[in-house]
Amino acid sequence: MENKKIREIIKRKNKNPIVCLTSYSKTITEILDKYCDIVLVGDSLGMVLYGMKSTREVTLDMMINHAKSVKKGISKSILVVDMPYQSYKNKKEAYKNAKKIIKTTKCDALKLEGGKKIINVVKYLIKKKIPVMGHVGLLPQSEKGKFKFKGRSSFERKRIIEDARLLSNAGVFAIVIECVEESLAEIISKSIPIPTIGIGASKHCDGQILVTDDLLGLSNFTPKFIRKYSNMRSIINKSVLRFRQDVINKNFPSRKNIY
Ligand code: KIV
Repeated sequence: MENKKIREIIKRKNKNPIVCLTSYSKTITEILDKYCDIVLVGDSLGMVLYGMKSTREVTLDMMINHAKSVKKGISKSILVVDMPYQSYKNKKEAYKNAKKIIKTTKCDALKLEGGKKIINVVKYLIKKKIPVMGHVGLLPQSEKGKFKFKGRSSFERKRIIEDARLLSNAGVFAIVIECVEESLAEIISKSIPIPTIGIGASKHCDGQILVTDDLLGLSNFTPKFIRKYSNMRSIINKSVLRFRQDVINKNFPSRKNIY
């Protein structure tokens, strides 16, 4: 069942932009929660944290464990958890796994990748009162090769618009649009009554999401849709180098660090 926070998000369509970020742990979530409307435990964690080649290797248990940690850092944002690859192959499996994620993590909603191909599963979850966030455009769980932006051919554009319309009609409360050409994001955002959340999908969306590790400059991922707001790799490098020097020079621990 949609909670109050989700109903408020739906009302933000065409109003003040929705701020979303990914998180995989409690500590980072405690910081993000103050500034975000939605915190997503994305299956990007497979590539970002675990160094996997694709998000297809991510398991249900990995998502649940990270979501439990993230939940501990949430006080006001909406917590959305990605359903991992193969966990929503059919209605029965999807419902069983969705219930498990919601019961064990106490998240507010689940995100599934795809449109027409998974529409019966999405409708079923919504019928069972599970709030669902859609995801169209680039679908990392379905990509075999290098990630490339979508919306080059008119066939592809029509398919993505259709996916978004079907999801919206099915009752998802918002849709992530990933890596699509600007005018396509604009058409989708104007043609559906629910908020669109863009990642590499222009400012025509009702909100934006980034992978937090990318925004912080912690990852080495540098596609053009990312803006790095800090360079955490360099900050960590400097800090660890200073620690190393202090240990070697016996400057750490000092008097105030000992019992
Ligand atoms: O897995 C993820 O982090 C995502 C965002 C990039 C939208 O789906």
